[in-house]
Amino acid sequence: MAQHSALDAYFIDGARTPFGRAGDKGMYRRTRADDLAVKAIRAVVERNATIPLDRYDDVAIAATTQQGDQGLTLGRTTAILAGLPNTVPGLAIDRMCAGSLTSVTTMGSGIRAGAYDVVIAGGVEHMGRHPMGFDADPNPRFLAEKLVEPDALYMGKTAERLHDRFPDLTKERADSYALNSQRKADAAVRAGKFDTDIVPVAIESDAGWGLATRDEHLRPDTSMEALAGLKTPFRPHGRVTAGNASPLTDGATASILASGAAVKEFGLTPKMRLVNFAFAGVEPEVMGLGPVPATKKALQRAGLTIDDIGLFELNEAFAVQVLSFLDAFGIADDDPSVNPYGGAIALGHPLAASGVRLMMQLANQFAEHPEVRFGLTALCVGLGQGGAVIWENPHWNGKRHARVGR
Ligand SMILES: CC(C)(COP(=O)(O)OP(=O)(O)OC[C@H]1O[C@@H](n2cnc3c(N)ncnc32)[C@H](O)[C@@H]1OP(=O)(O)O)[C@@H](O)C(=O)NCCC(=O)NCCS
Repeated sequence: MAQHSALDAYFIDGARTPFGRAGDKGMYRRTRADDLAVKAIRAVVERNATIPLDRYDDVAIAATTQQGDQGLTLGRTTAILAGLPNTVPGLAIDRMCAGSLTSVTTMGSGIRAGAYDVVIAGGVEHMGRHPMGFDADPNPRFLAEKLVEPDALYMGKTAERLHDRFPDLTKERADSYALNSQRKADAAVRAGKFDTDIVPVAIESDAGWGLATRDEHLRPDTSMEALAGLKTPFRPHGRVTAGNASPLTDGATASILASGAAVKEFGLTPKMRLVNFAFAGVEPEVMGLGPVPATKKALQRAGLTIDDIGLFELNEAFAVQVLSFLDAFGIADDDPSVNPYGGAIALGHPLAASGVRLMMQLANQFAEHPEVRFGLTALCVGLGQGGAVIWENPHWNGKRHARVGR
């Protein structure tokens, strides 16, 4: 990568809590959402101690349901709780599943505008304490005026709609994709690929205090036979199941972004450079398609094509939704450049936290693949949106723009 330009925005470091099963049996049932976010923030701040605490210019933390322990302007509350000085401001962000991705693009844009030197961007979702859609009050005009289809308000139903729209996206393909995600995640865990990302969290259970150190949803024993037999909760005789959907999850992520000038001043080692990003809208009842136009827009703005992208970190809200992306760009279901460490189907998807998880994984893969110059992180978003961010690999060896596996 060329020399750091003062106004470039760099991904410096990221950390996350282990992702837990949402609900009464989950490991975080007695843990507050804001405490999860604080844990992730403290981890990145402590690991990057050359940055004086009073030099953080802003803290953006996203959550989809901003109530209770996810309310009160999370960026400000968690900054104080994490021990940052009172002089460090904070804000809360919401773009549902693309919450922390939007924290990063918003803060990154501030760096590129010259308003920030160093920032924290992340997200949290405790889906056990804040079930999806709880206390939501959609305007009756949405349905009365047919502004959206009724299915648009239920994410699982939007995934069934994708199967309807693209008959080639069969249940068998979705199950096979999900199985592969579980296998890749298991291999990544065994190889220690998440060890630097995950920060242990103290948890309380009936047995006393313990330590959460690993993701709770992983199902390495998954088989095609077991997946084939699962119920289809979103439609009788449907195709979307608990096995080929991301599970309901609790967790938090945080990252540090810095300008080129701050990289120099604090002696930081960037893991990725923010190239460009885009958000786009699609019909809300097929919200899973959102990353397709978002990616096209981001590529166009960056002056790149899909062939320039060597690594993909795509959130797996539903297997069918990732498959719709891969088909749109002519990429094979099992392409080795896509989610090499597995994805949300295996690891979990704490809505607003997930974007930064994708970035941490891409950053780790960049270090392993100097032949790759550019990578993409992308998510679909409820009510029909997609978000995509293109990153450059600082370890790129300067040769051709290769895609992993080619
Ligand atoms: C699909 C969904 C409704 C399932 O919820 P759930 O029923 O609480 O899920 P569970 O983990 O209890 O799994 C249901 C069953 O499938 C089984 N199962 C799940 N994954 C499995 C796998 N990989 N292999 C075998 N069995 C599996 C579970 O063991 C369970 O079996 P049981 O009923 O015999 O106990 C829920 O995960 C969901 O809504 N996901 C989508 C979340 C979402 O919309 N996010 C936003 C995206 S935009």
